Amino acid sequence: MNHFNYIDDQLFCEEVPAALIAEEVGTPFYLYSRATLSRHFEAFDSAFSDIPHLTCFAVKSCSNLSILNLFAEMGGGADIVSGGELFRATRAQIPGERIVYSGVGKTAAEMKYALTSGILSFNVESEQELILLDQVAGGCGKKAPVSIRINPDVDPKTHAYISTGLAKNKFGIPMEQGLAIYRRAEGLDNIEVRGVSCHIGSQLTEVAPFIAALKKVKGFINELAAAGINIDHLDLGGGLGIQYDDEEPPHPSEYATAIKDELADLDCTLILEPGRVLVGNAGILVTRVLYTKESPLKKFLIVDAGMNDLARPSLYKAFHAINPCSGENRGRIKADVVGPICETGDFLARDQMVPDCGSDELIAVMSAGAYGFSMASNYNSRPRVAEVLVDGDRFQVIRKRETLADLVRGEELG
Ligand code: LLP
Repeated sequence: MNHFNYIDDQLFCEEVPAALIAEEVGTPFYLYSRATLSRHFEAFDSAFSDIPHLTCFAVKSCSNLSILNLFAEMGGGADIVSGGELFRATRAQIPGERIVYSGVGKTAAEMKYALTSGILSFNVESEQELILLDQVAGGCGKKAPVSIRINPDVDPKTHAYISTGLAKNKFGIPMEQGLAIYRRAEGLDNIEVRGVSCHIGSQLTEVAPFIAALKKVKGFINELAAAGINIDHLDLGGGLGIQYDDEEPPHPSEYATAIKDELADLDCTLILEPGRVLVGNAGILVTRVLYTKESPLKKFLIVDAGMNDLARPSLYKAFHAINPCSGENRGRIKADVVGPICETGDFLARDQMVPDCGSDELIAVMSAGAYGFSMASNYNSRPRVAEVLVDGDRFQVIRKRETLADLVRGEELG
C-alpha cells in the first residue's frame, strides 16, 4: 500500500501531482511520500509491539536526513555500516543508544567515533576486528558493547549479490567458530558481550529462510548459555522483501508472527534492521523522456536519468515498473528505457512493457525508494539529482540537486 495514485489521469504523490514538482524542481528527481514512509514504519514496528524490540532502520537503503529523522521521531533507531552513516544518523537526531553498527571492515577511527557516540552495539564480524575494537575501546577508556555476527549458512533464495548468510559469503563468523570467539570476547577487558546478530540477505520473499536461520541461531544461543555466556539481545538483521513486479512477499505482520512463535522461549530484546521494506515502495524516480528511437530490433525511450541515478537495473538486472506521469491507461510498447550514460549497461528497463511516451513526457520508475539515491554516483560527471518529500498537499526539497561546482569540489588543477 502506498500513496502514488492516479487522479484525473495524473500521477499524484499523496495530494501533489508529480508533474507539478517536475515543473518546479526539474528532472530527474526522487519523490518520497511521507504518509507511506510512516505507514510502513508503523506496520513493521507495531507488528512486534508485544515484545521488547528495537527497529533499527538500515541507513544504507535510503540515507536522507529527513527520512532518518522521520523514523527517529517514530521511535526508530539506525543500522549503520560506516562512520559516514553514523554522522548522518547523529545529524538526524537518532540517539546513540538506538544505533547498531554492522559491516566487515570497520576502521579504528570509525570504532572510536562510534564508541564516543555511545552506540548500542558493534556487530563484530571477525576475530581481528574484535581484538582491534578491544584496543580502541581501551584507548578511549570505554567498554565496547558487542554482538558477534553469526553466519548461519542458510540460502535466502534471493539474488546472489545480495545473499549474505551463506558459508561462502564474506559476512559473519561460521557458527562452528562462534563459541571460541565468544570465549575470547569474554576474556577481553574492554569488550562487553551483549548479543548475537545475523543477517542472511535482502529482498527475501519467503519467511522460511528467516526461520531456518533463527532456529540455527537459537541453537547457538543455547550452546552459549550452556557455556555460561548469556546475552540480552538478538539482532535478526533486515531482508524482508517488497513487491516490485509479481512477487508476493510476506506482510510484516506475517513475518513478525513467524519470528515471535519461534522466539517464544527466548528472553532477549529483539533488534531488527529493516531497510527496503520501509522505503522501497515509498519512493519513485521521476524522469523525462528526451528522445525516442527505433532500430530494426528495438524501441528505445531515452530519458534524462541513468544508471548513475538508479543502479539497480544495471547491477542486478532488477525490475522496476515504469508508469506514465499522465494518462494512466495509455498504450504500452515493448522497449528499453535507457539513460544518457556511455555504457550499454545503462538501462532502467530492458525489453519491458512500458508506456508509449514521446519526448518531453514524464515517466515514473516505481519502487525506487530503497537503494536508489543512496547508491547514486557522479559517473559521467552527472550531478546527483534532487530528492523531494511530499506531505499531504505540500512538498519539500529534502536534498538539492547538485550543481556543476559540487562536481569538482575538493579538486585542484595541480
Ligand atoms: N542489515 C544488514 C547487516 C545488511 O547488510 C542489510 C542490507 C540490511 C540490514 C537491510 O536489508 P534490507 O531490509 O534492505 O533488505 N543494493 C541491494 C541491496 C543490498 C543490501 C545490503 N544489506 C539492492 O539494491 O537490492
